[in-house]
Amino acid sequence: MIEVTGLTKRYGAFTAVQDLSFTVRPGEVLGLVGPNGAGKTSTLRCLAGIIPPNAGTVRIGGLDLASDPVAAKRQLAFLPDEPKLFDYLTVRQHLAFVARIYGVANHEPLAQTLLEELEIADKADQLPGELSRGMKQKLVIACGLLHGPSVIFFDEPLTGLDPLGIRRMKDSIRQRALGGAAIVLSSHLLHLLEEVCSHVLILKKGEKIAGGTLAEVSARFAQGESHVSLEEIFIRATGGTEG
Ligand SMILES: Nc1ncnc2c1ncn2[C@@H]1O[C@H](COP(=O)(O)OP(=O)(O)O)[C@@H](O)[C@H]1O
Ligand SMILES: [Mg+2]
Repeated sequence: MIEVTGLTKRYGAFTAVQDLSFTVRPGEVLGLVGPNGAGKTSTLRCLAGIIPPNAGTVRIGGLDLASDPVAAKRQLAFLPDEPKLFDYLTVRQHLAFVARIYGVANHEPLAQTLLEELEIADKADQLPGELSRGMKQKLVIACGLLHGPSVIFFDEPLTGLDPLGIRRMKDSIRQRALGGAAIVLSSHLLHLLEEVCSHVLILKKGEKIAGGTLAEVSARFAQGESHVSLEEIFIRATGGTEG
């Protein structure tokens, strides 16, 4: 469960995220969408406790992120859009390192399952320099999921993956939601978001301009049609590419 109230993030005098409130329950997948610079990454970083918000509260599984950061962060995973890895650790060693940090006992079988699920098991003894961008992204995701988080934040998880990788990632996201995780993901691949998200939140210049289930948001932006695609909703809601 993710509970966000009045979240505001400023960089100097510039407001990147303005008074954002929403809840994501176990089993729900919230798609965070908006033009470049809308504040998606800033929001996800605040939710994961990577950068401090200027105002607002974030609760992860009922725990306040500001007053109980370690316990709250134990329950979550943040998968950033830019994979950051250790140059001199192999794939397997990355997982061992993360297992040590999070205190995951007997992590090897779990790590193996994740590597197989993400299809990088054959790269287990390679260094990041020997991996493609998509493979690095998969390794970051395997590291993030190793401690079995109940709250998962994905920043652009589908970008950089090949078509089969995208399908696998969608299945993996769905499966974790079915298993009870509360998930937020940002993406510009709106037709793919439609397939995995139960809810969407549309951001423009840091402000929420629409939110709810896909059906609710579709109904709000319909102009007589019975169904409006998320892409069309995005364009109607954000007024094209400006912003
Ligand atoms: N560390 C930072 N310092 C100053 N401005 C930032 C910083 N990070 C992001 N911004 C600005 O905040 C706005 C939102 O950025 P971001 O959250 O990355 O948007 P998105 O992920 O939706 O593209 C942008 O105008 C961006 O330039
Ligand atoms: Mg971003």
